[in-house]
Amino acid sequence: MGGPTMSVIALKCPDIKVTVVDLNTERIAAWNDKDLDKLPVYEPGLAEVVGQARGKNLFFSSDVDAAIAAADMIFIAVNTPTKTYGEGKGMAADLKFVELCARQIAEVATSDKIIVEKSTLPVRTAETLQTILDSNGNGVHFEVLSNPEFLAEGTAIDDLFNADRVLIGGQQTPNGKAAIQSLVDVYSNWLSPKQILTTNVWSSELSKLTANAFLAQRISSINAMSALCEATEADVDEVAHAIGTDSRIGPKFLKASVGFGGSCFQKDILNLVYLCRHFNLPEVANYWEQVIIMNDYQKYRFAKSIITTLFNTVNGKKIAFLGWAFKKDTNDTRESAAIYVAEHLIEDGAEIHVYDPKVSKTKIKSDMRYVWELKGLTEERILKKLEQLIVYTDPKKAVHKAHAIAVLTEWDIFKTYDWKNIYKNMHKPAFVFDGRNILKETELKKVGFQFKAIGKSNL
Ligand code: UDX
Repeated sequence: MGGPTMSVIALKCPDIKVTVVDLNTERIAAWNDKDLDKLPVYEPGLAEVVGQARGKNLFFSSDVDAAIAAADMIFIAVNTPTKTYGEGKGMAADLKFVELCARQIAEVATSDKIIVEKSTLPVRTAETLQTILDSNGNGVHFEVLSNPEFLAEGTAIDDLFNADRVLIGGQQTPNGKAAIQSLVDVYSNWLSPKQILTTNVWSSELSKLTANAFLAQRISSINAMSALCEATEADVDEVAHAIGTDSRIGPKFLKASVGFGGSCFQKDILNLVYLCRHFNLPEVANYWEQVIIMNDYQKYRFAKSIITTLFNTVNGKKIAFLGWAFKKDTNDTRESAAIYVAEHLIEDGAEIHVYDPKVSKTKIKSDMRYVWELKGLTEERILKKLEQLIVYTDPKKAVHKAHAIAVLTEWDIFKTYDWKNIYKNMHKPAFVFDGRNILKETELKKVGFQFKAIGKSNL
């Protein structure tokens, strides 16, 4: 998300020269492509922003050293995935890329610089960065700030233009305070003072993990209630609405679903859990871990309900997936619930026929391959299992002669489909499992479908 953020900074601050660097030359070429549809990130509004600023004060380059040397302020926005090896495997954030950045900056810099942590990092990473940077030995002064990114995918540009807040953490020393002020000045080009919060560096680092943990917790909480709703004939959307009108709770992030996905929630909570264990706080760690356990349960519960409803087996049956992205309006599939639901159904012998308006066949196949590789499956088994996953660019083909349709992403377009026609061309009884509660139960039932949504005792 470094690209969109820096593009917006460039657009809003015409006097600042912004250079986005990446070692990946293909990615940089895509950022520089004349055809703005070819940008490497799909975000509504991004192409317009890049179109306006690129070549004026916004540049994309793979000459990392030159950009480091020239900069007064450097944003580190590399990814910090969950470690897949060694100490902290499956829990801790992998800081390899952040460390490499710091080492490169330390090596190349010959003038004082402000280093801004944009990536989501465990609390106290600024300390590590400072140690690496200070070992440079060139007498260069580095001031490390934390400025976490709160934007959500699909609404990134709007979130940047109209941020609820930006958070800037720094050392409470004269140098630290001066560095904080320089970054406040950048954001002040388009945000009001009350939208810009400043804190000490550790609070800022921890606030990002805390915000994501709280947001994910709300989803797991409503998803937990969705299971109880299904057992008691309560309706989870009605319950969510009823509690959301309490101004202390508020209406947002209470949409029951097949489970949250995305590059942040799971990774950040696992990271938080790991940190709590590191600081010997097992009760706190277990408390937050439950958010992930509930989310895994929700994905599993959805897959299991498909199997049970289809007379206890999906072996040899065609299940059409509408949607693969972790939410609508993005082509991002990281940790998407669809991946885990597909895995479970494929294990039971189903054929999964996928259509997503934005996600490519290659991506969908590689998502599944990655899961199976992590589980240590042999290449032969992986290839065999991949035969059970068929991807289409035409939704009509995906649902043709299916036994059931499962909605995995809440793309608006799915609501406008000709469900009568879809029904005609399916095996009967024809089932729809709405993992996002976007379709109208009464309409679908009238057409003839057996219909099941999340947190409702229908069918
Ligand atoms: C999230 C945070 O919102 C953002 O502030 C942070 O910077 C990065 O992580 P993002 O992952 O882009 O952003 O998406 P978000 O809109 O938060 O949705 C995450 C997941 O939760 C999606 O799978 C979404 O479908 C799901 N979700 C969201 C629900 O299931 N129910 C809801 O009510 C809201």
